[in-house]
Amino acid sequence: MPVTIGEISGEYVVIKALENGVTIFALTRGVDTKFHHSEKLDKGEIMIAQFTEHTSAIKIRGRVELLTKHGGIKTDD
Ligand code: TRP
Repeated sequence: MPVTIGEISGEYVVIKALENGVTIFALTRGVDTKFHHSEKLDKGEIMIAQFTEHTSAIKIRGRVELLTKHGGIKTDD
């Protein structure tokens, strides 16, 4: 079950890097949309990230396998 943060359901996503130098950007929740955090992953590294009151969108640059409650997806080659 997702953790509830106030009215916000903090869903998790699982990101596995399929190459070196994958970058994950976290975008702010609210009227302004800004990057507030970034993470670099190397091949084989896994990150579990949560949507919170601060983060409403995530941008991923690079080849990954992504698991969400909506399903799994793998970037094209
Ligand atoms: N600040 C925006 C918001 O909270 C961030 C965002 C969510 C967004 N979904 C998006 C930005 C889709 C661009 C596209 O709604």
